[in-house]
This record gives sequence, structure tokens and C-alpha cells, in this order.
Amino acid sequence: MSRSVRERRTPSPQEPMPSPTHATSRPAGGRRPFVIAQISDLHTGSPFFVANLMERAIVEVNELRPDVVVVTGDLTNDGFRQEYLLAKSYVERIECPEVLVIPGNHDSRNVGYVHFEELFGPRSYHYLREGISIVGVDSTEPDLDYGTIGRARYRWLDEKFSEPAELRVFTLHHHLLPVPGTGRERNMVYDAGDTLEVLQRCAVNLVLCGHKHVPYAWRLENLFVVNAGTVSSLRLRGNTRPCYNIVTIGEDLVTVERKYPFHGSEVIIEFSPATLAFEKPPVRDAAHHPGT
Ligand SMILES: [Fe+2]
Ligand SMILES: [Fe+2]
Repeated sequence: MSRSVRERRTPSPQEPMPSPTHATSRPAGGRRPFVIAQISDLHTGSPFFVANLMERAIVEVNELRPDVVVVTGDLTNDGFRQEYLLAKSYVERIECPEVLVIPGNHDSRNVGYVHFEELFGPRSYHYLREGISIVGVDSTEPDLDYGTIGRARYRWLDEKFSEPAELRVFTLHHHLLPVPGTGRERNMVYDAGDTLEVLQRCAVNLVLCGHKHVPYAWRLENLFVVNAGTVSSLRLRGNTRPCYNIVTIGEDLVTVERKYPFHGSEVIIEFSPATLAFEKPPVRDAAHHPGT
């Protein structure tokens, strides 16, 4: 994170951030931060896909050396096999011991989920290491743009998140909360209310999703819900730019940044899982402030 971004940050109207000496969510002893790179909405095969952006993002992620890379869907534009093969060729170049992939609504077009399973494996996963629990779920429905988690999977989420962890992360493609600067609200998770209730019950700290191509973050009760932008396509809204997220989990602070391939980064949100205090820099994008 650049010093200038830290200096630009303004206090939120919510609680003040804790000092670095406050209670920690990571074990004491000066352990290094745990880093998750979130890449979303590649849209290979789309006329708006830009290979240069994807190539650059891979170089940057490889230099970052995150502990985990989560890919939150829309790897392809129409779920076609040739698009999947191209997406796979990019994902294979990510040098990370754990690359966790779930499909998006575009990947489930044209029965694309069969290619997903063949090339990427199961459409849901549970990862647990170094106290970080990450559960990913396929929220798509064949040939439909809306998302759903479904009652049948609530118990599975309960079970996976019941394992002891210091930080619980849920990933899905669709957005769980409305995202500003995205026009008419549509295609949200149909059972978002029940899913949010399940996640609260499971003591989930962070949700990582994509789909809207606009990076944003909300806090809802004990939960921080973060959207990623599109990493490599020009399917953009307003003045948003292609980007991906970097989540840095420190001893008492989780920082989420959006990183623009070839360019700098900005903090989307910083929060303390222990106190729930957070800071969210003001949105400066014209998509959110059309009058400016
Ligand atoms: Fe997308
Ligand atoms: Fe999508």
C-alpha cells in the first residue's frame, strides 16, 4: 500500500480504528501477513477482453506471491470450451500454491459448467490453512444471470465454517448486497437475505464476490462484503477501470486494496475483525458521483 493512499484516507463516521497494539485476530509473534489475491470476471472470449491486462495482472500477482488466489467467476464470456481453454491457460500461469476457482453466470451459459468441472474441478471448495478458512460456492444457475445459494447448502456452510479458524472468508460470484454506481439493481443472489443470516451465524468475517465489475465494500453487522472489479475486460460501468483485489490479513487489521494492472492501488476498506472498526476512503469515481 502506498504511503500517499494512507495519507489521503479520511476518518469514517463509524468507530475509530484501533491502534496497532489492540487485540489481534492473528496470532501474536510477528507472523507475516496472510495475503489473498482476488481475480474476477476475466471474460475470455468477449470482444471486450484485453489480453494485456490479464497478462499484466498475472505478472503482478506472481510478484506479490500471495498465499492464496481466489478467482470469483466469469472466467469466460459464454461458457464455450475454447473460452475455458483460454481461461485455463491464464490461470495455470498463476504461481501460487492455492488457486481456488468458482464459476460465474457467464461460465454456466451453454452448459459451460461441464467444461468448468473438467478443467478446474469441483464448483465449490473449502480451504483451511494458517487459521484462514475460505469457502467458495457456485452461485450460478444454468443459462440464468441471477444467483442463488439455496437452502440445501446452508447446512454445508454451517459445517465447513464450524471448523476452528481465526478468519472466515466466503467467496461467491454474485453480489450479496447492492453495489452503488451499477445502475438498476438486478441479478443479485435471490436468497441473499437468508444467505447473509447464515453467514452471520457462521461468524464469517469477509465475503469476496464479483459480477458487477465495480469494486466496492460494505459492512453489515459483523460482516464485511467486498466486490471485485473485472480484471481484464472493458465491460465497465461509468469511469470504473479494470482491477483486482488484494486482501492483506495482518495481526489486527485486514486491508483490501483494488490494484489496477500496470497502475497503482487504492484501499477499498480496512477493518479490524476483533473490534469491527473500519475505514473506507470516500469513493472518488465519477460512476458514483455523476455530477462531479
Ligand atoms: Fe462478469
Ligand atoms: Fe457475472
